[in-house]
Amino acid sequence: MFGFFRKKEKQQEEKKQIPQENFSGIEEFIFHFKDKTGIDFSNKKDIIKNKLILFCRKKEIYSFTELLQKMAQDFSLKQEIIDYLTVNETYFFRELPQIEEMIKKAKKLGYKVEILCAPSSSGDEPYSIAIMLLEAGFLPKDFHIIGIDISKGIIEKAKNAIYNERSLYRLNQEIKDKYFYKRENKYFLKEIVKEKVTFRCVNIFDETLGNLRKFDFIFSRNMMIYFDKETKIKAKNILQKLLKRPQESIYFGHADMVG
Ligand SMILES: C[S@@+](CC[C@H](N)C(=O)[O-])C[C@H]1O[C@@H](n2cnc3c(N)ncnc32)[C@H](O)[C@@H]1O
Repeated sequence: MFGFFRKKEKQQEEKKQIPQENFSGIEEFIFHFKDKTGIDFSNKKDIIKNKLILFCRKKEIYSFTELLQKMAQDFSLKQEIIDYLTVNETYFFRELPQIEEMIKKAKKLGYKVEILCAPSSSGDEPYSIAIMLLEAGFLPKDFHIIGIDISKGIIEKAKNAIYNERSLYRLNQEIKDKYFYKRENKYFLKEIVKEKVTFRCVNIFDETLGNLRKFDFIFSRNMMIYFDKETKIKAKNILQKLLKRPQESIYFGHADMVG
């Protein structure tokens, strides 16, 4: 009998100790996230708030203030949030005319071509560039591509290079058979393409970006759509400094420089 009451009291005490949730102040989180990544969620406040509340509840975090404090102390939590909130939509052979134009220019260079793909997402874009260079007659020794992305999870996916049918929907059967092995419903990219791309998890606003070598061509497609005008200009200037020849242009996505 007494045991029952004691148990009940203990349960009530434990209940009392659970902090109250207070998910106000999403603006502060959005400001901080933009400051660190460039990604501006200020016109998607409600969507981001709801996503973050789910994230916090899973982690037993009770407010956005607590989340920000924990992110400052715990690098892996910060990386988890970045992986959770970034939009990584991509697929093979997306917007081909720019790649074809680059290949025409690359043929004229007559030396090993260095290409940066920032952001690379899960690798579909840099691997597409590699496939197209090989198809255009480039030998593997004649080019190299570096793919960077702020999301660690997506960089791991790029390194694994295993894709589903959806990512390959623009490839014809001949290209699929030539560059992929199919096992059950998955496509495994062949080594001849994989070894031509090196991936790094880097934020384009990190100082370490300057440690990368200089590039003949840079692709930066479908990232800046998430930046505001000021951040787009900042990002463009950073990438411009990574070009070997300043007169060479960077390939942006069609919507990237709008606004
Ligand atoms: C929509 S994907 C575009 C991928 C590919 N370039 C394409 O066009 O298919 C946008 C990628 O930008 C990355 N990204 C966003 N902000 C970044 C930053 N500050 N530095 C590096 N990558 C970033 C995201 O993680 C995401 O994978």
